[in-house]
Amino acid sequence: MIEKKDFSLLNYNTFGIDVTAARFVEYDSMDELRELIAGTRFSEPFLHIGGGSNLLFLSNYEGTALHSNIKTIEVTDEDTGSIWLKVGSGVVWDDFVAYCVKRDWYGVENLSLIPGEVGASAVQNIGAYGVEAKDLITEVYTIDMKGGEHIYSHADCRFAYRYSIFKEPSSRGVIVTHVCFRLSKQESYTLDYGTVREALENYPEVTLGAVREVIIRIRNSKLPDPAVLGNAGSFFMNPVVPKATFEAIRREYPSMPFYPMDEDSIKIPAGWLIEQSGWKGRSVGPAAVYDKQALVLVNKGGATGRDIMALSDAVRSSVRKKFGIDIHPEVKTING
Ligand code: EPU
Repeated sequence: MIEKKDFSLLNYNTFGIDVTAARFVEYDSMDELRELIAGTRFSEPFLHIGGGSNLLFLSNYEGTALHSNIKTIEVTDEDTGSIWLKVGSGVVWDDFVAYCVKRDWYGVENLSLIPGEVGASAVQNIGAYGVEAKDLITEVYTIDMKGGEHIYSHADCRFAYRYSIFKEPSSRGVIVTHVCFRLSKQESYTLDYGTVREALENYPEVTLGAVREVIIRIRNSKLPDPAVLGNAGSFFMNPVVPKATFEAIRREYPSMPFYPMDEDSIKIPAGWLIEQSGWKGRSVGPAAVYDKQALVLVNKGGATGRDIMALSDAVRSSVRKKFGIDIHPEVKTING
């Protein structure tokens, strides 16, 4: 267990915002976490952080930042078609993807290179290129601040687009300790999102390794590397609008990209809305809208959380004015 005071969170937020936590505690095992919760060493307020790839700090954090270093990957069951895994919340997400690809386990490859850790994959229902974590998650193991341990079934998690029950205020105090996945041992791919299939034409055959390579290449061409330019991936969620709203906009913009959700609602890429509103590549002080993907806000160097929020507010207000659509941050802001 590691315990530190006035700890810099620079390495725990991919936006690269220079803030501190009054206390930082990293635990290595369930036993250490149970001891922490039971003992006098831990009291509210706390913030559980993962890789910090979806956080925006508006100020120093005055409570305890908790971090999991539970890094186990355990096979819990197996049959001819599937393999079931129980994975520690502190495993780096992309290390988990690489581990599965190496063993010819199918399912997570489209989620290659998503920053962050396994615990957050369930909280956030991470997704990319036609696959979401919820498609693979079977159960989520948790512990609460009273020490109660509970296993959430897939249905209990109430997964939806970038959403799970763990984002609800009622789940405050619930810590995800392990996430269970079912992967396929039989060849199966999801290739119909964007340019994935087209990019695979350069390979002699479709393999798990080839799909991972292609996804990594596409991501690298569109999304900035947080080690070079601070960012938290997509800053906004793609809005889902009623069909009538969509049709009214489409009459004016026939080439607008869209994804039908169900009979009455359509998802519109926020990146497109932001670009059409003239924000792509524009800066406000040290905060900017990334020039290759308008859904991403970046820290050009030395930005505070409030600089990023000021840019976010300006972008949202332009999109609202031009299209009458409210876009909402995907990133979680932390204040105090
Ligand atoms: N587009 C523009 N201008 C832009 C950006 C996008 O016109 O500046 C258009 C593209 O041309 C395309 C459409 O918008 O027609 C969708 O773009 P893209 O495929 O890049 O995906 P996205 O909707 O912008 C979502 C996820 C990403 C994920 C990609 C690929 C959300 C909030 N974002 O982005 O997830 O990697 O799809 O599946 O759903 C993340 O959550 O941090 C993230 C990076």
